[in-house]
Amino acid sequence: MSRIVYVNSDYLPEEEAKISIFDRGFLMADGVYEVTSVLGGKLIDFDGHVARLNRSLGELDMAIPLSRDELLAIHRELVAKNDLVDGMIYLQITRGAPGDRDFVFPDPETCTPTVVMFTQSKPGLADSPAARAGISVISIPDLRWQRRDIKTVQLLYPSMGKMLAKAAGADDAWLVEDGLVTEGTSNNAYIVRANRIITRELSNHILHGITRAAVLRFAAEAQMEVEERAFTIAEAQAADEAFITSASAFVMPVVRIDGTALGDGTPGPVARRLREIYLEESRKAAI
Ligand code: PDD
Repeated sequence: MSRIVYVNSDYLPEEEAKISIFDRGFLMADGVYEVTSVLGGKLIDFDGHVARLNRSLGELDMAIPLSRDELLAIHRELVAKNDLVDGMIYLQITRGAPGDRDFVFPDPETCTPTVVMFTQSKPGLADSPAARAGISVISIPDLRWQRRDIKTVQLLYPSMGKMLAKAAGADDAWLVEDGLVTEGTSNNAYIVRANRIITRELSNHILHGITRAAVLRFAAEAQMEVEERAFTIAEAQAADEAFITSASAFVMPVVRIDGTALGDGTPGPVARRLREIYLEESRKAAI
């Protein structure tokens, strides 16, 4: 059975879904996106994702085409139509298709945004073997643009980073700028030293992760110490633990950085505990 996807108000089998070759998402990467995870058929951190989506649209002078309630209804409809139990919903909004290629933004009165959404089924998403074993990362220079706080679809460099990691026999890459880790290719980065959780402070240099916000809140509630500051790869290699967070990975332990094993090379207690708390609390709050 083919997937049912959403394109500009229509629900269609994926083979029938079409957008214009003039779409600015396709020609210029002029679009934003969100990835919301689904566990047990329910949406995790939905309102956080909508809030960040609206902020991304605002930063790019794009109109908000759908309200929170309309987006929720479409997300739920896609879950139902595709019998999605565990997985993700991908949402992309572009500035639309003006009918020709032009660097100048089209008139929003005549060019309406393109809205595309689809499901990705990942049975057992919350119970991945990677979470039990931990992942390895390499470091690479952060060559992305300076507005990483906007969740745009310009993902070529993160894709290249994942390929560099793969070629090096690792699972992912951490990006380094001015000697300091910014974040992972598609996740936020953390280390743990003497039970203190350290992660880079929010700025335009990183994406403001929705999972990050939830995890830091749960950590504070569990009386764990959190320090928001940047760290080097050397400090990370000497740390007790490391981990990443994202909507699709939740809290994922990192056990090796540039070939150096952290501690005994297995996931540490802080990352394991945070993953448990995050999954438990998020499932409870899922809608
Ligand atoms: N990526 N940093 C970057 C660069 C990201 O692309 C992501 C998410 C995050 C984590 O954000 P959140 O916790 O809101 O998912 C941090 C998504 C999952 C992706 O591109 O598939």
